Amino acid sequence: MRDAAPTTIYLKDYTPFGYLVDSVHLTFDLADHATRVTSRIAFRPNPNASDPTFFLHGEDLTLISATIDGVDIAPDVTDKGLTADAPNVPFVWEAEVEIDPGNNTALEGLYMSNGMYCTQCEAEGFRKITYYPDRPDVMSTFTVRINGDLPVLLSNGNPSDKGDGWAEWTDPWPKPAYLFALVAGDLIAHPGQFTTMSGRDVELNLWVRPGDEGKCAFGMEALKKSMKWDEDVYGREYDLDVFNIVAVDDFNMGAMENKGLNIFNSSAVLASPETSTDMNFERIEAIIAHEYFHNWTGNRITCRDWFQLCLKEGLTVFRDAQFTSDMRSASVKRIHDAIDLRARQFPEDNGPLSHPVRPESFQEINNFYTSTVYEKGAEVIGMLKRLVGDDAYAKALDLYFDRHDGQACTIEDWLKVFEDTTGRDLSQFNRWYSQSGTPRVFVSDDWVDGTYTLTLNQKTEPTPGQSEKLPQVIPIAVGLLNDNGDEVRATEVLEFTEAEQSFTFSGLAAKPTPSILREFSAPVILEQDQTDAVHAFLLAHDTDPFNRWQAGRSLAQEALIGMILRDAAPNADYLDGLLAVLRDQTLDPAYRALMLGLPTQSELATALHQKGKTPDPMAIWTAVETLRQATAQHMQDLLPRLHAEAEVDVPYSPDAEQSGKRALGSAALGLTSRLDGGVKAAADYAKADNMTLQLSALACLLRAGKGEAELAAFYDQWQHDRLVVDKWFGLQASMAHPDSAADIARDLTKHAEFNWKNPNRFRALMGSLAMNHAGFHRQDGAGYALLAEWLIRLDPVNPQTTARMCSAFQTWKRYDRSRQAQMRENLTRIAETPDLSRDTTEMVSRILDA
Ligand code: BES
Ligand code: ZN
Repeated sequence: MRDAAPTTIYLKDYTPFGYLVDSVHLTFDLADHATRVTSRIAFRPNPNASDPTFFLHGEDLTLISATIDGVDIAPDVTDKGLTADAPNVPFVWEAEVEIDPGNNTALEGLYMSNGMYCTQCEAEGFRKITYYPDRPDVMSTFTVRINGDLPVLLSNGNPSDKGDGWAEWTDPWPKPAYLFALVAGDLIAHPGQFTTMSGRDVELNLWVRPGDEGKCAFGMEALKKSMKWDEDVYGREYDLDVFNIVAVDDFNMGAMENKGLNIFNSSAVLASPETSTDMNFERIEAIIAHEYFHNWTGNRITCRDWFQLCLKEGLTVFRDAQFTSDMRSASVKRIHDAIDLRARQFPEDNGPLSHPVRPESFQEINNFYTSTVYEKGAEVIGMLKRLVGDDAYAKALDLYFDRHDGQACTIEDWLKVFEDTTGRDLSQFNRWYSQSGTPRVFVSDDWVDGTYTLTLNQKTEPTPGQSEKLPQVIPIAVGLLNDNGDEVRATEVLEFTEAEQSFTFSGLAAKPTPSILREFSAPVILEQDQTDAVHAFLLAHDTDPFNRWQAGRSLAQEALIGMILRDAAPNADYLDGLLAVLRDQTLDPAYRALMLGLPTQSELATALHQKGKTPDPMAIWTAVETLRQATAQHMQDLLPRLHAEAEVDVPYSPDAEQSGKRALGSAALGLTSRLDGGVKAAADYAKADNMTLQLSALACLLRAGKGEAELAAFYDQWQHDRLVVDKWFGLQASMAHPDSAADIARDLTKHAEFNWKNPNRFRALMGSLAMNHAGFHRQDGAGYALLAEWLIRLDPVNPQTTARMCSAFQTWKRYDRSRQAQMRENLTRIAETPDLSRDTTEMVSRILDA
């Protein structure tokens, strides 16, 4: 059902709804293909609104009856909603609609997953459940009665009544409709309990399908840790008697923060040592924290409109990052975040999909749950905290919760609490929310008569819809080192606000070596002409863990670029520096494992593009392989020791310490496999007793072109565990040689278990292919064609997941003519598909308009 003409919604057009909602009563009579939803809603005119039009959103609903104050009415119904004549005094709206959850494959609104009913309403899914002002600034209390022949019936808030075949829930906290949730199914509870700081008992439950009971313990512990942390660090207490989490297999996103009833993609909550990797555990801990933290940053204080999405998402990502830093290693977390930002946000911000952290227009809001809104949104908060200091940040947050509890807010409200707390003028800082693109910071320095001067220049390239860029406030954390590697100036934060600005340091005995952008203090690209010798010096001596890692990364990147462009030999400074770091047993194994990482191939393609070169995916792949081989040879003698260091003789735990050791061990195994052809990996595979080791050994074998038997054995062993089968699909596409990745992926689409309507399965295969840089960009276009073909097939079934995956094509303009032409052809093929969804139409047209 394609819209005649896609409409664009603008931030500047915001107007409040003409009515306030005092209460909502919903009754659900569940039936797979004919669920009845009865609503009784108390409205009253909004004194702060000027437009009295009574329009209720509603999509894919069959209206059975509608009354106002008990009198039947005949509203004007379209496929977007209905309009009725409403009185200019308080009134009660009642309606009955019928919906078809059994045929809802888009997984938005009320749908079914393996016989279980569940909902996903953010951002605009509630309108697929009943007629309602489905916008986040309309907040109300909800009472929900569920009639259904299923053992477990859940909704938001506290349970208020129940009987045979029905249950009633009451949520005392006013909320927007996007936080509504309902779950009904044959589920089993993994129970828990938490006593809040004021002594209230909260009943916790993690609800899963029978068979998944053994995968709940970790998630439950993560929830309790999150609840405690939010009390300790932000003073925020939970506010209901129960907190329920439900795991569902069919889910478009990772998880959703519905009030008192979080719904999780089963991949984002279920875990056991045998079936989940250390990385899975870490992600689960972070997502549980994230959704829980939304209870205050998102639910108690929500967004006025969807342009303000970063108000809740940026802040909540920032909070979950703080949580992870506290639970695990702060420097490792910071490095991970920088890697992810560069891998996901930078390409977005420097390509056709670039948009501000607070966008100014959209066609389909689902397309703006982006890395820019989330991760850059979180970085912006980190910068704000760095600029005002920790104490002022804490005060501002207290004021925010105090002033805005129960409200639907804007970024202006958010910045105002900081202005009021600190007396600062944040109007220039506000550009971080309105200006898109990644600032590049160019550095030069000077040493005259004992005074050291750093001169910084900032420049942001034009982005779609924004040609002129103004200077932004950039906190640049800098430390200075002497030739022995001692800090002669401890880290200080420079407030860089002009297009060009100099900072002087006097009283130094000799010209120092600067360590700039410590802790990755701002989401910018640092352009610094440093020699390999300086990088090597910082790799050996930098006292800031982030920048020490960064020095190794820069060396590696320069080495690879030299190999790609000039056929240079692997850089000896890099190999020697790396060896020294890896030998240093005083360094955390997790940190050393990160040191062994290389920039992604896609990142290298970006770097080449920025140097005005056309990236050749195969040349990039070859350079990475060659450098890996050289690294393996250079470290040959150390590898057995690194591998042994990783062995733990205590029972498996996914904690930071053990997983750091395993990360180092598997990095060492990867290098070893390049020397022994996979002998050690095969042995490790045979004795692996947890998924982390099993999967890393299998990955090494596949990369070495081996592992056929192990791959088959793995499938036999795990064919009944859908989350592990996802890994089996994904690994083959991501580890495949570039020449065969597209063919392997195409064969896998024919596998009986390629259940493509399940978003996890679809993403496991197609997402992994898209991430295999040289494989996806194969010269003959086989990768592009396969992805396009499947996106076209998925679109009518699940527009949201289809649209998100179109971003695999967002970098098309940087490649050679032939690849560009093939990508354009495939994008056009998608764009011209009859009845293409609004979601995918918007994405493809933005990408093509580049
Ligand atoms: N509110 C979102 C879930 C969501 C996203 C609903 C898009 C509707 C559309 C949730 O809080 C969220 O951000 N989830 C993330 C994980 C999180 C750890 C960043 C997700 O689902 O990926
Ligand atoms: Zn979120």
